[in-house]
Formats: sequence, structure tokens, C-alpha cells
Amino acid sequence: MLSVSSVITRPAVLLVAALLLNACSPAADASETDATKSLPPIPPTAAATETPAGADAAVLAAGQALFAQNCAVCHGADGKLGVNGARDLTKSNLNAAGRTYMVVNGSVSGVMPGFKDQLTDEQITQVVAYSLTLK
Ligand code: HEC
Repeated sequence: MLSVSSVITRPAVLLVAALLLNACSPAADASETDATKSLPPIPPTAAATETPAGADAAVLAAGQALFAQNCAVCHGADGKLGVNGARDLTKSNLNAAGRTYMVVNGSVSGVMPGFKDQLTDEQITQVVAYSLTLK
């Protein structure tokens, strides 16, 4: 079986590393204290909402159930709840790879836990596919 976490998280790690390196470069404008200001916009191709699993109805149904069990407590069933600073998932620009990285590893702040020990690769693919349908 295709391992989602190994296939998808690696480029995401490289992307994060590249962004961090970019943010730390000496050429960065010293007057920009907000690190996010120096980040380039997400290219349209990276913001595409295709997932490895596509939008298969069975995948989305499984993902919806997983979302209700694991994610809705903070994000809400509709993705908009925002408990403890949880992002509004209907406004997220993250594509499938970015969301998978987030669900596998959790947030840098540690507020959102990683689910790599709770969910299988297949389940993570399903819940990410479902999260991309929240608009
Ligand atoms: C304990 C609360 C909590 C739970 C449970 C939780 N999240 Fe989160 N989530 C957060 C918080 C807080 C953030 C913002 C983290 C940050 O920016 O540091 C976040 C951010 C995200 C993001 C990034 C959005 C963006 O555009 O930056 C995604 C995607 C996401 N969560 C998906 C999920 C999914 C899918 C689940 C279930 C498998 C889940 N979350 C479970 C709290 C939670």
C-alpha cells in the first residue's frame, strides 16, 4: 500500500525547510518583524484541492465519520468552530499535502495534536479528503 505519510510529508518538510531558510536569509528586510509577511504566496498548483484518494463517495463518508470523532471537538462539524485557536478549515489554503502534514504531525504550537499514532495512513487520507470538501 502507498504510504501517505512518507510520500506526502517529505515534500512538505522540504517546503517548510525552504520557507524557514528563506525567512532567515540575511537578505530579508530587517524591518519586517512578522515572519509571515516575507512568505511568498501559495502557487495555484500547490493550492489545488486534489487528493490521492480523489473525491470517492466511500472515502468521503469514511472521512466524515473520522472528522466527527477526531477533529470536530476543536474545528466543529462544519470546520468553522475555532476552539483554542483552531483554524477555520473552510478558509484554509492548505492543499492535501499540507493538511496531511498537519494531521500527521500536529501544529508547531502543539495545540493541535498529531494523529499518526491514532489514525492509519488510509484514515488520514480519508479525513484530509473530507476536510477539503468543507467550504
Ligand atoms: C485539540 C484541538 C484540535 C483538534 C482535535 C484538531 N485540530 Fe486541527 N487545528 C487546531 C489548531 C489550534 C490549529 C491551528 C494551529 C496553528 O496554527 O498553530 C489547527 C489547524 C489545522 C489545520 C491547518 C489549517 C491551516 O490552514 O493552517 C488543519 C488542516 C487541521 N487543523 C485539520 C485537522 C484535522 C483533519 C483534525 C482531525 C484529524 C484536526 N485538525 C484536529 C486544533 C485542533
